[in-house]
Amino acid sequence: MIEVSNLRKKFGSNEVIKGISFSVNDGEIYGLLGPNGSGKSTTMRILAGIIPPTSGRVLVEGIDVSKSPLEVKKIVGFVPETPALYESLTPAEFFSFIGSIRRIPREVLEERVERFVEAFGIREYMNQLIGTLSFGTRQKISLIASLLHDPKVLILDEAMNGLDPKSARIYRELLLEFKREGKSIVFSTHILALAEVICDRIGVIYNGRIVAEGTVDELKTLAKEESLEDVFLKLTQAKDEVIHIVSALKEAL
Ligand SMILES: Nc1ncnc2c1ncn2[C@@H]1O[C@H](COP(=O)(O)OP(=O)(O)OP(=O)(O)O)[C@@H](O)[C@H]1O
Ligand SMILES: [Mg+2]
Repeated sequence: MIEVSNLRKKFGSNEVIKGISFSVNDGEIYGLLGPNGSGKSTTMRILAGIIPPTSGRVLVEGIDVSKSPLEVKKIVGFVPETPALYESLTPAEFFSFIGSIRRIPREVLEERVERFVEAFGIREYMNQLIGTLSFGTRQKISLIASLLHDPKVLILDEAMNGLDPKSARIYRELLLEFKREGKSIVFSTHILALAEVICDRIGVIYNGRIVAEGTVDELKTLAKEESLEDVFLKLTQAKDEVIHIVSALKEAL
């Protein structure tokens, strides 16, 4: 369970998160949708205990991220939008490193690594330097690293970027399984079709505020639109703008 109330974040004098509140239940996938720069990654980094909030309260499984960020990190699996990997380690070395900092017993670690390596088909890369791997393979390493300690809560910032269709399907099924196990998952994406099939509820964030929240059907009713894309464009005040920009572009070409 995650509870966010009146969260604010300033970078210098620039307030980028302006009083956000939402909660994510056990066994729920909560989607964070919003335009570039709207504050999704900043919110998720705060939830994962990476950066502190300026004010407001974030409880992850009842633990306050401002007071106990290290305790929060223990129960959270975080996939950042840019994977933080060690280029000069191999995936095998990197997973052992994660296992030792997370104090995962060796047999448990080996069993989990084996399961994910098999699932994502990355066995042939296990002894190559991470720095030499393809974009999607690196993303798979980042996804696996976030799961090795079997976290109760997952914070997934555009986590499916770069995955091929087979891996994306496998990861999606894995998320649904985690949901059944009762994990709480926050999921950001720009792929609205993906949000539509994965998320139980969605919060649309615009300019540091949540401007609408609900199931996909509730959002469609609220915005009086039939597709999630039109809902999104309307709520983020981009719908008319897009029409003007596209017609100006056509004239210019
Ligand atoms: N470390 C930082 N220092 C200063 N400003 C920052 C920092 N991190 C984020 N910001 C600013 O906060 C705002 C929100 O950024 P954020 O990365 O949260 O957006 P986002 O919704 O994840 O966007 P995207 O869809 O492009 O990933 C942006 O204006 C960004 O420039
Ligand atoms: Mg982002």
